[in-house]
Amino acid sequence: MEKFIINGGIPLHGTVAVGGAKNVALKTFVAALLTDEPVVIHNVPLIRDVTYMMDVLRSLGATIEISDHTVRIQNSTSVTTTVPLEVGARLRTSSMVIGPLLARYGEANIPNPGGCRIGARPIDRHIEGLKEMGAEIIYNHDDGYFHATSSGLHGTTYRFPKNTHTGTETLLLAAVLAQGETILENAAEEIEIDDLIKLLQSMGADIARISARTIKIHGVKKLHGTEFTIMPDRNVEVTFALAAAITAGKITVQNSQRHNIRSFLSALGSAGGVTGEVDEHTTTYSGNGNYKLTSIVTAPDPGFMTDWQAPWAVFMTQASGRSAIHETVFESRFSYVSELKKMGAEIEFFDPPVEDPEAFYNFNWNDHPDGYHQGIKILGPTILHNAILEIDDLRAGATLVLAALAAKGESYVHGVEILDRGYENFEKSLKNLGANIERVKEEV
Ligand code: EPU
Repeated sequence: MEKFIINGGIPLHGTVAVGGAKNVALKTFVAALLTDEPVVIHNVPLIRDVTYMMDVLRSLGATIEISDHTVRIQNSTSVTTTVPLEVGARLRTSSMVIGPLLARYGEANIPNPGGCRIGARPIDRHIEGLKEMGAEIIYNHDDGYFHATSSGLHGTTYRFPKNTHTGTETLLLAAVLAQGETILENAAEEIEIDDLIKLLQSMGADIARISARTIKIHGVKKLHGTEFTIMPDRNVEVTFALAAAITAGKITVQNSQRHNIRSFLSALGSAGGVTGEVDEHTTTYSGNGNYKLTSIVTAPDPGFMTDWQAPWAVFMTQASGRSAIHETVFESRFSYVSELKKMGAEIEFFDPPVEDPEAFYNFNWNDHPDGYHQGIKILGPTILHNAILEIDDLRAGATLVLAALAAKGESYVHGVEILDRGYENFEKSLKNLGANIERVKEEV
């Protein structure tokens, strides 16, 4: 167990290079199961979720070599089709191997997936789609496993009832080797999915996004090995952009994905944050500490992403007035609120008026716990003070670090290993920007 000790109140200045996107890297590993030839992935972020995903592949028999940020995956000739519980339950993407295993070996046994605790996070939409492709899938409550078999997946037209990022990818990863044509309607638009599509195309898959939310896949008999470089992580870029604004500093981001975070840039501009375009892949972010309240409603891509709302809340503690955040994608993504309140933030929950919650929210309304709220109101500006903080979700973790960087005094942030799931060398990057942050082992 480790914690950060942060002495805040220092404006951050300097340059940071953003690494490969977590939410692409994890899926490229799953794609490697679609061929017996080596798949070489470059720009892989060295984060804990990547390590967990490597464990999933190794548990199925694959051989993995890693050198710097390049990973070479060689699928086994004698694959196991069961993901062990202790390996699979650690992250949600472990469930995605169901597609390649079914398509190639006709069988898959996967534990109910884990991941950050930001809601019930069922995979009903993935399972329904796979069933439409001819899979038989039973969930066994006794062992907590999905047991799936197929005597050959076939193409289908499947309409997702609601947006699902990994659900869209799961069906893609099955359809590429299914017999015939699959059309995915109401498919998710997250740009990370398009990077996965590029990888699959480089392996010989026949896929086209024929409209914003429709993807057509023509199944092929065989896919081959490839070499592929993952796109930069836009969620990490947003974190650093907000670090600059919150501390009233100036940060230059290399490997910038500016064109893929337009909804964020628009909100940042409205609030008084400043964005500068250095060149196509370099962006500066700065602010003078005088910010206007800017309310947001999260939405699937191309909207204001749910992954950005927690750090946005810290930013709004520094803005004048009462701003609101309405979370519509996950039903439980405000775990950081109690921690920010410890630092003096003035935040209250509220119930945004919604006529038909099942139709409006991205999660299944049945999963919404009684008494839970989908909105917060933040009154600012507040001079945050130091506190002892506990991380319990990846993005919330980065949020608490940002809050501690903005606060006066020495804060302790516990649960750093959750942050390590998605940010490579976070504290080193922050130190390079002038932050006073130390990682120390917890005394037992
Ligand atoms: N949902 C269902 N049933 C399903 C699928 C989804 O009820 O079958 C619900 C989810 O519980 C959630 C909503 O629908 O409330 C949206 O879920 P989605 O499937 O789109 O999200 P995800 O695939 O679980 C991915 C990213 C998240 C990111 C979201 C939104 C990965 C590994 N995770 O999650 O990233 O927030 O899409 O873009 O790709 C993160 O990086 O910290 C993170 C949580």
